[in-house]
Amino acid sequence: MHGPVAPDAHYEHPRLVSVYDALDPDRSDLQPYLALAAELGARRVLDLGCGTGVLALLLAERGLDVTGLDPAAGSLSVAAAKPGADRVRWVHGDARVLGRLQPPVVVDLVTMTGNAAQAVTDDDGWAALLRAAHDALVPGGHLVLETRVPEARGWEAWTRAATERVRRLPGVGDVRTWTQVDDVSGPPSSPTVVFTQHFAFAADGAVLTSRSVLRFRSREQVGAAVAAAGLDVVEVRDAPDRPGLELVVLAQRSRA
Ligand SMILES: C[S@@+](CC[C@H](N)C(=O)[O-])C[C@H]1O[C@@H](n2cnc3c(N)ncnc32)[C@H](O)[C@@H]1O
Repeated sequence: MHGPVAPDAHYEHPRLVSVYDALDPDRSDLQPYLALAAELGARRVLDLGCGTGVLALLLAERGLDVTGLDPAAGSLSVAAAKPGADRVRWVHGDARVLGRLQPPVVVDLVTMTGNAAQAVTDDDGWAALLRAAHDALVPGGHLVLETRVPEARGWEAWTRAATERVRRLPGVGDVRTWTQVDDVSGPPSSPTVVFTQHFAFAADGAVLTSRSVLRFRSREQVGAAVAAAGLDVVEVRDAPDRPGLELVVLAQRSRA
């Protein structure tokens, strides 16, 4: 990751970001992160890869001081237009911008939900992100991230037959979506999966596509990268809404 991150179309294209939340309305996956923030007594949170800001806004609603960072300006503009958005500090860019921000971002908890960690596919970018997360944390502060378990081979279900669905969205009409995998490469413990999502709008017949690349990482690889960034893995949890499919990694900056 040397140049700026080029966001996937479904995080950036105005027509796709405008339906992003409506196409994925069940965000019960975020509940454990709200519970974790409360469990840890976090007061200041950095949501890395905040997308359309759903978690950032839920945390801010609870009175926490929240920064949401994302390289996709289109998603951030959706986030910033939501009720309560003025309570959140929105930052455009990838984690490398954190070192240049004034005032600096200093938090007790860094979150990476929605498998945002997998969007960082190269080892250097991944190491830089984890280091930036470490540097934003106070001593004793926590990082929590989720990433799909490679052994579960989730991408095998990303076929048109298994993923196709139609949603009727108010003011938009029917939107038919489906996913297809284009390529799987790399070792079984850490494959890189390239796939394309299709969005067909019945209102005008437009079909937009968004190509994504995701890196899967084993528990050992995530643990080693987190440790190399100076964080201790405290616990690896399951995601209650996706049992057996996710590694939810909780790490801590040392108190010293
Ligand atoms: C599946 S979305 C999840 C968004 C949000 N965390 C949520 O749970 O709703 C993945 C997000 O990761 C962001 N992303 C991609 N590359 C990134 C990077 N290098 N650093 C931080 N975020 C990144 C994308 O722009 C996108 O908003």
